This record gives sequence, structure tokens and C-alpha cells, in this order.
Amino acid sequence: MRACTAMSSRNVKGDDMSTSVEVRDRPSTAIGSLRVDGKRLWRSLMELAEIGATAKGGVRRLALTDLDRQGRDRVVGWLRDAGASIEIDGAGNVFAMRAGSNALAPPVLTGSHVDTQPSGGKFDGNYGVLAGLEVLRTLNDAGVVTEHPVAVAIWTNEEGSRFVPVMGGSGAFAGVFPLEHLLKQRDVDGVSFGEALTAIGYAGTVRTGGRELDAYFEAHIEQGPILEREDMVIGVVTGALGQRWYDCIWSGQDAHAGPTPMEARHDALLGAAKMVEAVNGVAHRHAPDGRATVGFMQVKPNSRNVIPGSVTMSIDMRHPDDDHLVTMDREIRAAASAIAVELRLECEVRQVDQFPASRFNLECVDAVRGAAKALAYPYREIVSGAGHDAIYLARVAPAAMIFVPCKDGISHNEIEDARPEHLEAGANVLLHAMLARAGVSRTAR
Ligand code: GLV
Ligand code: MN
Ligand code: MN
Repeated sequence: MRACTAMSSRNVKGDDMSTSVEVRDRPSTAIGSLRVDGKRLWRSLMELAEIGATAKGGVRRLALTDLDRQGRDRVVGWLRDAGASIEIDGAGNVFAMRAGSNALAPPVLTGSHVDTQPSGGKFDGNYGVLAGLEVLRTLNDAGVVTEHPVAVAIWTNEEGSRFVPVMGGSGAFAGVFPLEHLLKQRDVDGVSFGEALTAIGYAGTVRTGGRELDAYFEAHIEQGPILEREDMVIGVVTGALGQRWYDCIWSGQDAHAGPTPMEARHDALLGAAKMVEAVNGVAHRHAPDGRATVGFMQVKPNSRNVIPGSVTMSIDMRHPDDDHLVTMDREIRAAASAIAVELRLECEVRQVDQFPASRFNLECVDAVRGAAKALAYPYREIVSGAGHDAIYLARVAPAAMIFVPCKDGISHNEIEDARPEHLEAGANVLLHAMLARAGVSRTAR
């Protein structure tokens, strides 16, 4: 894939109020004019954001913590109140099912995640889950019976902050890695994914994956600046950047900060510091599409007057073209070797996660575009710079995503913000894209 977020270019102002939803029994214009309740969606977002709320207006709700449990419990309660039946699989993924008229038809699924970054916002992931809830509530209010079941998923540990792999629950669901691999991953305190999942009561008994789906749609804030900058309301997401994640482990020697001469040191943190700059340089060499970040570092022994003998740091690299990722991989390894020789250190660069650049299903992308057009929202095509559960769902079902703008393009930050009318618009697009796939058998009105 060559296009990236900054290069995607199609700008269209929607102007067609027709709808592609098929009304099977009773032709009705009511379906085309069906709209979500934006105020109710906003209220739910704000109520969920109370759990793990931070002083600066953000949310800290790390995967599989007790706060995650509380957040899940609240959303599952709302989904039950909306009449959905709840299933939980072995990865802790939650599925809320709203039956359709055809019991044999595979569900049209939406969803996202409710875990957050350590200093995360109110909308990343939470919006996609609650937009799905709002779709169910809207269908209920209008008495719509779909042909296919319509379902909402809460995927476990999407953020990859507490546990690697990122998009862990959806990856296990899609068979990207075995469930057992996921369950044995450990956080920085040595707690395993499986232990944490059991502790919060979300180790379900339903088989992980192997579930036939008609389609998967995910609504999300863009987490970048393009839609806002161009005054677009909807991003029709065509694909996502490839990613590679690494642990980079520097080994030197602990020594006293005073008596040890500068030329006698084996300073692992100095190696890591030089590596941070090298990683940044790699991304700049692959501009404008390359991204590379060091966001995590563990320094040992982490004492003011000890030269650090050991450092573990993360590297996150992204690019829309997999060939570039291969080159970037070579470049960071070469940089690590050169720094290790220069500073008389050892360095291991260990890839811990990866997925290639992906493209979403053309029919599902068309369903999103068709809904945005029918609803007369200004939209453009866009490629996701962020990872999303939809990327793994796309391996087992036709999938696509809907983006809405976020303030100043800021995300993974407590100040993350989005406008209620944009969130409402994205949920309306989700509703109509899902209905286009699910078909409508009956409406009460
Ligand atoms: C998910 O939040 C990502 O890292 O893109
Ligand atoms: Mn997210
Ligand atoms: Mn995120």
C-alpha cells in the first residue's frame, strides 16, 4: 500500500440523500431517515469516562485492571438493558448479540475497546463500543428487525500498553496468534494476561474465534489532524499502516557514579539515549510516511548515583509500505550495533509484534462511503496511522472503519477531545453501513 494518511486525497462533499438499505417486507422511507440519538451517545461516553477519570479530564483504565472491569461491567449492563445477549470468549472479548429475523445469517458486528492508555482520553476505543451500543438502542427505539443479527464487541487489550501484543483480543479472535500465546504474556510487574483476565472475572468460556461474521465495522476518532484540517466530518478508512514493535535491551555494567572514570564506563542508558535519536532519524529518512517512536524505557537499577547497567526500551515503527518497514528494520539494527560497539555495550533488538500494511474490504468501504454520502456528511478517504481491532478482524471478515475528527488531532493524551456532532455523525454512518449489510425485515413504524 503506498498511500498514507498525509497523502490520501479524495475530498467529496456528500449531497445525495438516498439510502442503500433494503427494506424487505414493507418498503419504508423511515429506515433512510433513521438517526441515532447524539445526546444519548454523548451521555454514555461521559458516564463511561467517569471510570478511571484523571485530574486533567482524561481516563486511565489499563487493560484487565479493576477499572477495566468496572468499565466493562457498565457497558455490558447497558448492552443487556438494550436487550442484547452477552457472550464472553477465552480472551475476554465480549459479544453483545441482537437477534435478527434469520437465525442462520451471520452477524454484522461492530465494536472497539474500552481499555485506555495510562494517560488516555475519553474517546479512543470507547467511542466505537458506545457507537455500537447507540446503534442497538436506535434500532430498538424504531422497532427495526434486521435480517442478520447485529452485534457489538468489546475487544480486550487493544492498546498494547499493559500487555503486548497490541490488539490482543481481536488478534486471538482472528487466529493471528494462539489464545495460549496471549494468556501467557506478562506485564511489567510479572502478572500474566491470563491471571489478570481471571482476576477481573472476564475469562469467558465461549470459543475464541471461529465465529462466522457477515461484516465488521468500527467507528473511531481519527487520532490525527487531517479531517479537522480539511473540515471533513467522516473519514472513509481504506486501510492502515503496517507496524513493527521491538524490545531493545541494552546491557552494560552497574557502577558507582563518582569514582568510575568516564572512559571506564559501560553505560546502558547512554546507549539507549543514542538509540532514541537513531530511531527518530530512521523515521525522518523515510519521511513523510515513516513513523518511529520510543515510548517506554526501564532503567536498572534506576538510582541517581549508579551508572545504569541495563535498559529495556520499546521501539514502535510504522509505514504504509512493507518494503520500507523491512529497510527501517535493517537501519535500526545497524544503528544499535554501531552504538553498542562505540560504548562497549551489548544490545539485543527483539521484534515482539508486527503486522503488515492492510487494506479494508472494498464492499464494506463502499458501505461506509455510501452511508456518508446518503447522510450528506462531508467525507474523504483516509488511511489509519493507528492500529485498530478492525485490522485483525479484516483477516476473518469483510471489514472497514469510520473515522471522525478529534480536536487538534491529539490522541493518547488526557486532553483528547471530539465534537458531539461529529461523534453523532460517525454513529449515523455506522448505523446505515451496518443496516446496508444486515438488511431490514420489519419496522414497527
Ligand atoms: C493503538 O492505539 C496504536 O498503537 O495505534
Ligand atoms: Mn483505539
Ligand atoms: Mn489507542
